[in-house]
Amino acid sequence: MINNNPIGLFDSGIGGTSIWKEIHQLLPNEDTIYLADSINAPYGEKSKEEIIHLSCKNTEFLLNQNCKIVVVACNTATTNAIKELRAKYKIPFIGIEPAIKPAALHSQTHKIGILATKGTLNSELFYKNVEQYQDIQIIEQIGFGLVELIENGAINSKEMNSLLLNYLTPMINANIDYLVLGCSHYPYLIPQIQKILPKNIKIIDSGDAVAKQTKSILTEKVGLRTNLLKSKQEFYTNTNPKVLAEILNNQYTIIQKKF
Ligand code: DGL
Repeated sequence: MINNNPIGLFDSGIGGTSIWKEIHQLLPNEDTIYLADSINAPYGEKSKEEIIHLSCKNTEFLLNQNCKIVVVACNTATTNAIKELRAKYKIPFIGIEPAIKPAALHSQTHKIGILATKGTLNSELFYKNVEQYQDIQIIEQIGFGLVELIENGAINSKEMNSLLLNYLTPMINANIDYLVLGCSHYPYLIPQIQKILPKNIKIIDSGDAVAKQTKSILTEKVGLRTNLLKSKQEFYTNTNPKVLAEILNNQYTIIQKKF
């Protein structure tokens, strides 16, 4: 099946680029449009109604650009709004949810940790997901302040290190053997997290699974781009583009626009 329209992605900010990178690596011939709604970050502290409203606004921007599929590159938006998005728009949506399943299935200590936003951990979808693993102790931690620091370009700051130390120490003491990163911003913290965690604790996120799912839905239902011209990658933000440009290694032009 052929469909040369772009893949649309959105997040509350720059974090969803961790998902975009996986998708671009797996599907380099696809055009993509990435929307960073940084002016409204963090979504994790907002009400479900506000998250639905913002997710609809972002989706409509991407639909106006003829996107053939929308990747909700944000756990908070997925867990709070994907049902409403799927009901309202005809286009297929790919969501991202914390990778509890692989962690729960492989854990030897039967204890896993999850770091995510308040909005994700309090959502019905997350509750339903966790409910299936009654024999596993799941230590939940809200990552208060982490998204704000990442959005401000303070990934390697002392403040970040002390927040992570506070959040992870109780999990280490509880003997977890898997840490699930339940927010698309957090893969950018892996080097710092690895310095804090003992080597036996594995870190997992959902980026790779989302990219594979996107490929399979495009292949089976939507269509892949077959155009022989080099693919085009577009990035939009509604705040200062500096941090988004940096996280993409200054390889792409960022369009600053009100949306
Ligand atoms: N990147 C987001 C997520 O995956 C949202 C973080 C936020 O804005 O609070 O949950």
